[in-house]
Amino acid sequence: MNNFQYKNPTKILFGKEQIANIKNEIPSGAKVLMTFGGGSIKKNGIYEQVKEALKDVSLVEFGGIPANPEYETLMEALKVIKEEKIDFLLAVGGGSVIDGTKFLAAASKYEGNEPWDILVKREPVLNALPLGTVLTLPATGSEMNAGCVISRREIQEKLAVGGPALFPQFSVLDPTVIQSIPKRQIANGIADAFTHVLEQYMTYSVGAKLQDRFAESILQTLIEVAPKIMEDTSDYEAASNFMWSCTMALNGLINQGVPTDWAIHAMGHELTALYGIDHARTLAIVTASHYTYNLDSKKEKLAQYAERVFEVKFGTEEEKALIAIEKTKEFFESLGIKTKLSEYTEEFDGTAQHISKKFEERGWLGLGEHQALKPSDVEKIVEMSY
Ligand code: NZQ
Ligand code: ZN
Repeated sequence: MNNFQYKNPTKILFGKEQIANIKNEIPSGAKVLMTFGGGSIKKNGIYEQVKEALKDVSLVEFGGIPANPEYETLMEALKVIKEEKIDFLLAVGGGSVIDGTKFLAAASKYEGNEPWDILVKREPVLNALPLGTVLTLPATGSEMNAGCVISRREIQEKLAVGGPALFPQFSVLDPTVIQSIPKRQIANGIADAFTHVLEQYMTYSVGAKLQDRFAESILQTLIEVAPKIMEDTSDYEAASNFMWSCTMALNGLINQGVPTDWAIHAMGHELTALYGIDHARTLAIVTASHYTYNLDSKKEKLAQYAERVFEVKFGTEEEKALIAIEKTKEFFESLGIKTKLSEYTEEFDGTAQHISKKFEERGWLGLGEHQALKPSDVEKIVEMSY
């Protein structure tokens, strides 16, 4: 097991009727900016619950943060933060609203002229406004981690940044919010969380047995609850297991002391930037090609995943590894998620070259757990995903 230092400061308020408790978590006297997305919270009662909980708090609202939170929109929110002298941010939404709000927290304290540089420079964010979240869509884990991903459509970029100042102070995880989520977004949430675990597990063994089993148990839980929550979003037991699995998949627990990959996400973000494909679906497009291309370096872990998660009992290591890749693809497809780029766009010609060129320009010359994937490898993997 590799060395690590581990701290996660986010307080979780889990369960029914927890939104009411946020009033105890907001610093007294704070002027709060409540951020939200395109309006789902106004249809499902979450908006009213937050307003009721904060009726004695000085509150300003900023709605309209789109999926794949857009830089231009966030710059408008930044003006509000400055004009209104906001000192606490409350994100009420899915990963996009939470990420956008984290970026605002960083941008509010940024001393340069152009906050976009926070993403380009990618230095750890050490100074930010404090924030809390009410999660409305389990998927990204953003509610309990210190990362955010921001899009800028104008230049077809989607970039990530993180840092200890971006952990939410608290997050409310109320599984009843899942009831109003459309099936497509539920499927996205399952696939995103599943891939988060894979990115931190499907590397090579460093003898970290507990981390492996944490990862495998999250995968097994997601596989078990997926058909139930897809069928009935009001199934509270399935909803609570789904929600907690998504948080645990990317809150910095399972990656301690182990190598991580994240190449699938790096390639996936480019597909969203180019074609606007939902984040989780871009991952489902790339995963099988990535693992097939890197079979040699990943087959030991792939075979372990086949044995422990899919209960594959027979075959050589390589045969088991190949079955694992196939079963992963089948799992995504069982959620109604297509796994080839050509199933999302007809204009995919040149995508692989475009992405590899971008990585080259950014100096991303060694992706994956061995930092061995060059832009030319990325090109081949993306091509295999057509
Ligand atoms: O905008 P509204 O009207 O709220 O509708 C949203 C949105 O259209 C809707 N929704 C959310 N909660 C709902 C609901 N609809 C009905 N009932 C509810 N309770 O769902 C749609 C998608 O929401 P979004 O926040 O975009 O989805 P998700 O949580 O999947 O977030 C995706 C973003 O997170 C980034 C992705 O790249 C993408 O930009 N990620 C963030 C990560 C992180 N911070 O750690 C890691 C991830 O790998 C990912 O990159
Ligand atoms: Zn993701």
